[in-house]
Amino acid sequence: MDHFLYRDGVLHAEDVPLPEIAASVGTPAYVYSAATLLRHLRLFDEALAPLPHLVCYAVKAAGNVAILKLLGDAGAGMDVVSEGEYRRARAAGIPGERIVFSGVGKTRAEMAHVLRNGIRQINLESEPEMRALSEIAASMGVEVPVTVRVNPDVDAKTHEKISTGLAENKFGIPIARARAVYAEIARLPGLRAVGIDVHIGSQLTDLQPFREAYAKVADLTMALRADGHRIERLDLGGGLGIPYARSNLAPPLPSDYGALVRETVGHLGCEIEIEPGRLIAGNAGILLASVVWRKGGEGRDFLILDAAMNDLVRPAMYGAHHDIVPLHEPAPGAETAPYDVVGPVCETGDTFCKARELPHVPEGGVLAFRSAGAYGATMASEYNARPLVPEVLVQGSDWAVIRPRPSYEEMIGREAIPDWLAAP
Ligand code: LLP
Repeated sequence: MDHFLYRDGVLHAEDVPLPEIAASVGTPAYVYSAATLLRHLRLFDEALAPLPHLVCYAVKAAGNVAILKLLGDAGAGMDVVSEGEYRRARAAGIPGERIVFSGVGKTRAEMAHVLRNGIRQINLESEPEMRALSEIAASMGVEVPVTVRVNPDVDAKTHEKISTGLAENKFGIPIARARAVYAEIARLPGLRAVGIDVHIGSQLTDLQPFREAYAKVADLTMALRADGHRIERLDLGGGLGIPYARSNLAPPLPSDYGALVRETVGHLGCEIEIEPGRLIAGNAGILLASVVWRKGGEGRDFLILDAAMNDLVRPAMYGAHHDIVPLHEPAPGAETAPYDVVGPVCETGDTFCKARELPHVPEGGVLAFRSAGAYGATMASEYNARPLVPEVLVQGSDWAVIRPRPSYEEMIGREAIPDWLAAP
């Protein structure tokens, strides 16, 4: 459930009519609903409630500091994968003790930064990284809590570009190596193993792969404890999918996921960490776009929007589906026609969908891409010299721009012509 609903025929974000935001901010623009973000966080909290736990929101999904502050104030921890994301979380007021640092290529500089500034745990992804972190921590005279991200070789049955738990993927340390790696951690200065980490992929619509992975983590917990390690935390990653198409079967709910967590690892007495991104932010955000031109083509009609693949890359990159709805509700039984919905970028890949049945929307009319809150704004670029799309946060009847659209002067002004090219 989200808070983007028609009221008196006009699509609202909570209590705010979206045409008001479109008129004031312009399009394209992302709009998030605070109530939806908080509701999704609470669903995970409730699902894990019987166990000690921390929901570490995956900042990569939607990393605006206002969103992080909203979730952080509600008790969320954060999962970050770069110094930039760590700095965002800290700028939003999240204490280091609630931030976990994941990622397959953390640099020495990034690891030193989080050690200096406070971190709950670092999820190790390789043996060279483990040794480097040991050196850095020891040289600073600190001992850092770590987990090892194990690769359980489980097929997450999701899009190949966002599947991370197969042996062939670049992520984690093969689970078969885990005992040797924990033994080395125990010998290395500056590191204290506190748990195990696993993340097998994103947009999972079936619980079975989680079940398989978590069963392997449970077995490993017992084996590591038998080896004398204190395993007191399990970071179970993110990945729970969301319904992108209203017509589709709904994926499992956070409550189903919570029941699975309790079943598979609940008996181990560990604190549970999870790293959901998409389920918290995905249906909490939409992308507003205007129709620039309607164009008749050879056997097809195009709706050319002012939003493009640089603003929302998911359809071009993963063939992803986003429902598209007009801001003004069509009358019941209103006629629809098939449209290829495209952006203005000079690539055929800049196509949001083909032959989509949509009601009549005039040139200048505004549409909303639903379920665009996760991996929308964070993956946006300035391709084709299109200024970065702005972001708006709604809470009840309040709304605010949380990232303005840069002016052309700001966008171009970041660049510099070297002296040797400048006119004499
Ligand atoms: N933890 C780790 C270590 C991750 O790599 C990810 C996502 C998450 C947590 C959060 O997963 P979620 O709950 O959001 O599924 N850009 C793609 C998704 C990439 C996911 C990358 N890792 C998309 O738009 O579908």
